[in-house]
Amino acid sequence: MAQDKTIMLPIFLSLLLSASDALVQDFCVGDLSAADTPAGYPCKKVSAVTCDDFVFTGLGKAGNTSNIIKAAVTPAFVGQFPAVNGLGISAARLDLAPGGVVPLHTHPGGSELLVVVQGTICAGFISSANAVYFTTLYKGDTMVFPQGQLHFQINSGNDNAVAIVSFSSPNPGLQITSFALFANSLPSAVVEKVTFLDDEQVKKLKKVLGGTG
Ligand SMILES: *[C@@H]1O[C@H](CO)[C@@H](O)[C@H](O)[C@H]1NC(C)=O
Repeated sequence: MAQDKTIMLPIFLSLLLSASDALVQDFCVGDLSAADTPAGYPCKKVSAVTCDDFVFTGLGKAGNTSNIIKAAVTPAFVGQFPAVNGLGISAARLDLAPGGVVPLHTHPGGSELLVVVQGTICAGFISSANAVYFTTLYKGDTMVFPQGQLHFQINSGNDNAVAIVSFSSPNPGLQITSFALFANSLPSAVVEKVTFLDDEQVKKLKKVLGGTG
C-alpha cells in the first residue's frame, strides 16, 4: 500500500497541474467585434490586452439628465467595458436631477447593489410575491435589489443625487416597465386589456413616451 501511494502521488500531482494549466484563465477581455453569446463574448488575444482594457473612466462624469425622467444611467456593462466579460460583474452610474426618477424596471440578468454617493434617494423593489420593500437612502447607504425584481429610484431630495451601482452580471440588461407598455407599437386596445387602464390614459402615456398604435 505504502509503495502504491508513493507512485500515485506524483502522477496525481502532474494530472492536477496539467488540468489547471488547461482550465484556469486569468481573464477574457471581450472581443466586441464578434457576436455576444449566452456565455459572453469570445476573448480578445492576450497579446493585444493592455492595462487600459481593465480601466473604465466613464463613471466619473455626470450623465445628461435633460430628459423626461430627469435621470441618466451610464453603464459600464460588457458592451462599454469589455474587461468584465466572463467575470460576472459590471457597474453603472446613476444621476438623478431634482424630481428625477428611474421608473419601475428590472435587470433580468443580475442582482444590483446601489451605493448613494450624493443626495437622497427613495428606492425600493417589489418582490414576485408583490411584497414592497422601499425606503429613503442617504449618502453612504447601500441597498440591494435581487435579480429580476421590479425596482425604482426617485430623487427625494432638493439637489442632484448620484449613485454607483454594481451588478452580478457583465450584462444585466435593463427593461423599464412603462417603456415596455407605452413606448412601442403594441396596439392600445391590447395595452388596455393587459393593464386594465382606460383608452384615454393609455393614449396619453403613449404620446408622452413615444409609443404608437
Ligand atoms: C443633454 O440632452 C439634451 C436633450 O437630448 C440636449 O439638448 C443637450 O444638448 C444635452 N446636453 C449635453 C451637455 O450634452
